[in-house]
Amino acid sequence: MKTALVTGGAHRIGAQICRTLHRNDYHVIIHYRHSSQTAKNLANELNNIRQNSASTLPAELSNIQAVNKLCDAIKSLNLLINNASVFYPTPINELNQHDYQSIMDTNVMAPLFLSSALSDKLAQNQGCIINIVDIHSERPLKNHAIYNISKAAIAMITKTLAKELAPNVRVCGVSPGSILWPKNAAELDQVQKDKMLKKIALKKQGSAQDISDTVLFLANSTYITGQIINVDGGRTLNQ
Ligand SMILES: NC(=O)c1ccc[n+]([C@@H]2O[C@H](COP(=O)([O-])OP(=O)(O)OC[C@H]3O[C@@H](n4cnc5c(N)ncnc54)[C@H](OP(=O)(O)O)[C@@H]3O)[C@@H](O)[C@H]2O)c1
Repeated sequence: MKTALVTGGAHRIGAQICRTLHRNDYHVIIHYRHSSQTAKNLANELNNIRQNSASTLPAELSNIQAVNKLCDAIKSLNLLINNASVFYPTPINELNQHDYQSIMDTNVMAPLFLSSALSDKLAQNQGCIINIVDIHSERPLKNHAIYNISKAAIAMITKTLAKELAPNVRVCGVSPGSILWPKNAAELDQVQKDKMLKKIALKKQGSAQDISDTVLFLANSTYITGQIINVDGGRTLNQ
């Protein structure tokens, strides 16, 4: 059985990626930080479908020791999905080092060091890394400078590692547009949501399934590396 590690796999897009990969015969390792119970519930759900086909691993990804410990706990790997991320506004006149560190460590440092530390295990299986990027890696989202910069960095990590890790590991990316409305500090009101929906050519949000289908497509596409696919309903046409 192939094994996939999905960071931030307990909720939302990450959980859908876990379910889709599992339906396609992967053993999934569901990484979580705070969502211990939700991750365990998802692992139980998947293990009830197929025995010993899902497990969970915790790690605070902004901590390099925790990243290395997570990698040491993984024996064999075919697919690494760098999905976990931090998203909240950082207006340019309110920038501070804490926000910079928190967003860059999770969104940039963690995927880079996870990829590096797991590259030998992936290479042994002719494996693949898929980074969940964002269309704002290319076209900045107002008031989100640090997040935009972090996603531009992970787009470059995708291309750089595709070169560095070839020919034994492929590295690709999926750039979601508007899929699930942000929560907490980044929450939008109805007026802001309507404004965003108007910009999308297909006039609706995508679904987590749209993202996980593209992840699966790339995982199966053994002659594609270094490519990032926008899954955005044509939103980039209007930006
Ligand atoms: N939602 C969208 O419409 C959208 C649009 C564009 C791009 N994206 C990208 O798609 C991916 C998934 O989006 P999402 O909205 O589903 O993500 P999310 O709910 O905002 O976050 C996913 C998970 O990341 C984990 N996480 C955050 N900081 C962490 C840290 N320091 N250490 C370890 N884990 C951490 C959290 O795990 P715990 O809950 O266990 O703490 C969280 O559940 C992200 O890369 C995001 O940038 C999403």
